[in-house]
This record gives sequence, structure tokens and C-alpha cells, in this order.
Amino acid sequence: MFSRKHRPWQSREADITPKGLYLDRRAIMAGGGAMALAGLTGCDAQSNALAGQQAGSRQRPVNGSLDFSPTDYSVMDDQTPFPAVTGYNNFYEFGIGKDDPARYASALTTDPWSIDIEGLAGRTGRFALEDVVDFTSLEERIYRLRCVEAWSMVIPWIGVPLSTVLSAFQPSTDARYVQFETHLDRDEMRGTRFPVLDWPYVEGLRMDEAMNELAFLAVGLYGEVLPNQNGAPVRLVVPWKYGYKSIKSISRIRFVSEQPVTSWNRSAPREYGFYSNVNPDRAHPRWSQRSERVIGGNVFARRDTEMFNGYGEQVAHMYAGMDLIENH
Ligand code: MTE
Repeated sequence: MFSRKHRPWQSREADITPKGLYLDRRAIMAGGGAMALAGLTGCDAQSNALAGQQAGSRQRPVNGSLDFSPTDYSVMDDQTPFPAVTGYNNFYEFGIGKDDPARYASALTTDPWSIDIEGLAGRTGRFALEDVVDFTSLEERIYRLRCVEAWSMVIPWIGVPLSTVLSAFQPSTDARYVQFETHLDRDEMRGTRFPVLDWPYVEGLRMDEAMNELAFLAVGLYGEVLPNQNGAPVRLVVPWKYGYKSIKSISRIRFVSEQPVTSWNRSAPREYGFYSNVNPDRAHPRWSQRSERVIGGNVFARRDTEMFNGYGEQVAHMYAGMDLIENH
């Protein structure tokens, strides 16, 4: 099915009925998760994080289904079949083959999970994931993810807007960029024993990009907890940029004043820029970006690649006046 309007998304007609809260709010409050629900205040971050863990309260499912609300941010194209979404992946920490992540990522321990918040922000420290993402207000967004390797998938992601998460840490006005880092465990992540990239995997966004309405932190897909190969327990989804910006298994977020290092830019600067906006006019030095293979459908299925992956209406204004070939 293709979008019936010229917009890349529209309200879904068959709205999903939220399944109701799977969490017992009272249990969370009693278990020390009150902070997550009430919004954290100026208390010590470390003790907030520990409060949730020490009480042993389960504030997020670690497998099975998630509860979420539908949103207007949905591409109406055919969704990529679940086996392709979870069986054809890039997650070099588990190997460079497309089927390596499905084979080996189950070794990653995703519970408990903490995220270090660092840099130019009012609230910094180590936080339990449950204190970073509010699992009681998840939403679904069906975004197209366009990989730099010239293929794409349409995936129903479950998560929260990145802006909601970042705002809670009160970034200062000097924080012009935000850097994200993937967890690194050489025992559990067998691919990191090889110097394919300079580990840990790092990515970054300009602050206005990070606060854009489309930037999303996903904790699930297809109604289920995020499979490990897709970046459990929490990954970024930046739908107007090439897929490598959508960093997986995030364990550090750092607010910085200067443009941060990113893994692929550091590894091959001519091929991968900091911005990495989907741009059919800027060929990768080794292949065209004009069209893309549609994963999961007919083997010959292709579509023309759109500027900003079709999300220009929401994001083009952030790059007004910039040369997007130079700033690729
Ligand atoms: N994040 C980490 N930590 N390591 C990776 O190798 N690969 C990126 C991105 N995030 C990658 C990563 C690339 S190249 C793509 S295309 C997307 O993840 C793929 O996401 P998917 O496997 O969920 O489709």
C-alpha cells in the first residue's frame, strides 16, 4: 500500500487500541520508580538510578509485548516483514555479516541497563534505563530507515521522542551537539575483538536535530521489546539520515559544545560525513544513492530515494543555506 496523500505519513485509519498499562503504577511508586513517573528533580542522579535498582521493581518488560499509543508519524507503505527486520541487520559489534547480529546478539545482557549522562547539562550521572525512558508513555511510529548501502525497510518502532528524554536532563545553552555511545563488552560482543571500527561505536547529532520532532528513541518494534540484533534495549532512530546514525544499545549520552566524533566519519571521512542526511544527489564515492532496494519484498523491488528520505517537510528548515553536498 502506498501513501494516499503526498505526505510521507498520515494518521493511521486503523488506530491501534492501546492495550492499557501493563505496569502497576502503585507497584512502581512503591518500588522507587516514582521519580521516573513524576519527572526527576534536582536530587542526586546516582541515587535516583540506584533507587529503582535496589528496590528490585520491574519497570520494563525485557521480552514480550509492549503497550503503546499510535501517532501520526507513520509511513503508509508496506511494512518490512518481521523476519527481514530481525534477520538482516547491521550491528558490527556482533560481526559484519547481515545474519551475524541475529546469530550472536543474544549474548548481550540488556537487563539491568544504565545510561551515563555526561557533559553540559543540569542533571548528569548514571541512570537506570527505566529512569531515562518512561515505559508508561510509549508510542508507535512507522518510519522508513534508509541504509547507506542503498536498501531500506519500513519498521513500526515503539519508543519515545528523543527530545522528551534529552530535555529531562536540562542541557545547557552551550550544549550545541549531543554524542551517543554504544555499550562495549568484548566478551558479549564478539565482533569488537576485531578492529573493524574504533570501538565503542559513537554517533552524534546537532542539538536542533536531536530535538526535532522526528528523532526517536526506540525500545521496541512490531509491538515487542526490541530484539537484541536491532539494538536492545534502546537505540536511536533518525529517519531522515542514513541508518548508521541510528546507533544501537546506547549506554552513554554526552552533551558537548563542539561537533563530536562519529564512528563512520572517523573511519572513512570521504565516504561518511557528520550530517549523513539521505541525499540522492550526493553519491557515495563507490555507488549511487539515487535508488534503494526494498528489503523483504520482491528481490527486484526498488524505489527512488527521496531527499531527507521523504521527511523534508519536518527537517529541511534545519539546513537552510547549507551546502548539503559539502556537508554530507
Ligand atoms: N549501531 C551500532 N552500535 N553498531 C552498528 O554497527 N549499524 C548501523 C545502525 N546502528 C550499527 C548501529 C547501521 S549501518 C544501520 S543501517 C542500522 O543500525 C541498522 O539497523 P537495523 O539492523 O535495526 O535495521
